[in-house]
Amino acid sequence: MLPLILSIESSCDDTSAAVMQGKLLLSNVVASQQVHKQYGGVVPELASRAHLQNIVPVVHQALAQAGVKKEDLNAVAFTRGPGLMGSLLVGTSFAKSFAQALGLPLIDVNHLQAHILANFIDEKDAENKHPEFPFLCLLVSGGNSQIVLVRSPRDMEIIGQTIDDAAGEAFDKCAKVMGFPYPGGPIIDRLAKVGNSKAFTLAKPQIKDLDYSFSGLKTSFLYLLRDKIKENPNFIEENKEDLCASLQHTVVSILMNKFAKAVKLHPEVKDIAIAGGVSANSGLRDEFTEFGQRRHLNVFIPKLAFTMDNAAMIGAAAYYKYLDKDFCSVDLPPFARVEI
Ligand code: KG4
Repeated sequence: MLPLILSIESSCDDTSAAVMQGKLLLSNVVASQQVHKQYGGVVPELASRAHLQNIVPVVHQALAQAGVKKEDLNAVAFTRGPGLMGSLLVGTSFAKSFAQALGLPLIDVNHLQAHILANFIDEKDAENKHPEFPFLCLLVSGGNSQIVLVRSPRDMEIIGQTIDDAAGEAFDKCAKVMGFPYPGGPIIDRLAKVGNSKAFTLAKPQIKDLDYSFSGLKTSFLYLLRDKIKENPNFIEENKEDLCASLQHTVVSILMNKFAKAVKLHPEVKDIAIAGGVSANSGLRDEFTEFGQRRHLNVFIPKLAFTMDNAAMIGAAAYYKYLDKDFCSVDLPPFARVEI
């Protein structure tokens, strides 16, 4: 009988709980926090308070939707990090007390590994195809931009990563200077669909090896706006679709250039995947799919619901640790910063 695992995710501004039987998803409840919109970004203290309010009803709903009683669970999993310390503390403390009260083993999960393992979540009545090992994954989120060589569910190596901002941060910060609310990434994606991606030329970084940089692009975007607004104060409003399309095109081509290099360096790899919040971007999804087809590689792209922060991906990662009986002690602290 496959284990029933309750998993908790609270690393940033989404409170989520999922119930899985093995890798099969039974429920995945996400409570997103709206309070941050008015501040143009996540306010850590407000995030922790909202997690405190959300965690009990979210877990309750996840168990109810799965039709699982807490006494039937085999383990409790939680995101250990990386993330906001206050947010992590809420999920970690809840998971520990819940597991202790029920006498269940605890499983700590690395949030970044979980984003990658979102590609392994099974769903009822779905095709459930997953990458074969080893594969290369482009992990792009609000806090990370990495190329990861995945040898097994528990053996991952970062072979390239950003030296400054993440791709999601570049989207969000450029959106902010255009006056869009947080998070700006999805708004840029929507407007880019009807814009001209060649309308404006933005700086592309010259960084060695497989590493990324997005801070120069952000500055280049800011200077473009500053110069154009001097000539026409309505410049942003009149050109927002073209600005978004040009920005998205530049971010995607920076991401794909280095990923193409990584593929060249790893001829043993036949499967490629994307993961993380920015992997919801339609321009990136299209470009990634076309790239894979051109190179005769099998392409894996998670469902939109599994690209953002969610507990189902924590459950998928926890399942592999459960198989190894790799449980953690109740005094294990959360980590704000931790590598794959
Ligand atoms: O993985 P995630 O939910 O949180 C982190 O762990 O960072 O990623 C959030 C990031 C934000 O920067 C958000 O703007 C970006 O993902 N994002 C997008 C899209 N949807 C979410 N960026 C571009 N296009 C999208 N469609």
